[in-house]
Amino acid sequence: MNAAPIGIFDSGIGGLTVARAIYERLPMESTIYFGDTARVPYGPKSPDTVRRYSLEILDWLLTQGVKSVVVACNTSTAHALDALRAASPVPVLGVIEPGARAAAEATRGGGIGVIGTAGTVASQAYPAAIHRLLPAAKIEQVACPLFVPLVEEGWFEHPATRLVADEYLAPLRSMGADTLVLGCTHYPLLKPLLHRVMGESVALIDSAEETASSLAVALESAGTASGVEVPGRHRFVVSDDQARFLQVGARFLGERLGEPELVRLG
Ligand code: DGL
Repeated sequence: MNAAPIGIFDSGIGGLTVARAIYERLPMESTIYFGDTARVPYGPKSPDTVRRYSLEILDWLLTQGVKSVVVACNTSTAHALDALRAASPVPVLGVIEPGARAAAEATRGGGIGVIGTAGTVASQAYPAAIHRLLPAAKIEQVACPLFVPLVEEGWFEHPATRLVADEYLAPLRSMGADTLVLGCTHYPLLKPLLHRVMGESVALIDSAEETASSLAVALESAGTASGVEVPGRHRFVVSDDQARFLQVGARFLGERLGEPELVRLG
């Protein structure tokens, strides 16, 4: 039993979808969420830069006494997970393995679409992880960078978002994907629209929920689950612009979002 907090980090606000899934799955766990709002987006940045930023955040989270770290950002998981694990004395969990596992289980015909940032798609991390589990899977990826600002605008059902989604997802519809991996923190907020564009029979894989389940299993098996019978406490920390984090973050978390602290890194 261990009442220390879980560290969760993302390039910015989007990782709150993962935080929310963790609060729901593990209500007695406390967390510290770090959003690197000074340096977002990670999607178009080089693997080296994303790795350096991620290691800086890990170092800071470790100074806060976290018992494990969840890399909520897909791009950071794609470029930095191995480096983070090598540098960390506590377990580090990414979002890609859990999402890949869920996709491999969900597909019926083996046709899997993956959408993510340019960095995540270029890294080939999702296809590699899915192919390890399902070598025969037919995978196509599409980078969907415009979804991030559309979600941050709150345009979940806006006609402009529908137009962009139609364009991005056309190749995945033509390949007959029966499963779509939402390989970016922001995309779970577009689920209803993506369902309509892809067809209701297509399984949408939300890495957030899968990651929260994997975290629950990892804490249990390591014997580090919280022993306390009171709801967990949640801290929010950003590297810039607390006001915008509060305003946009409320769309992700509602009233559970607390006043963020400011910590400058680098
Ligand atoms: N958090 C990023 C991800 O999941 C999306 C936003 C960004 O580009 O930084 O890949």
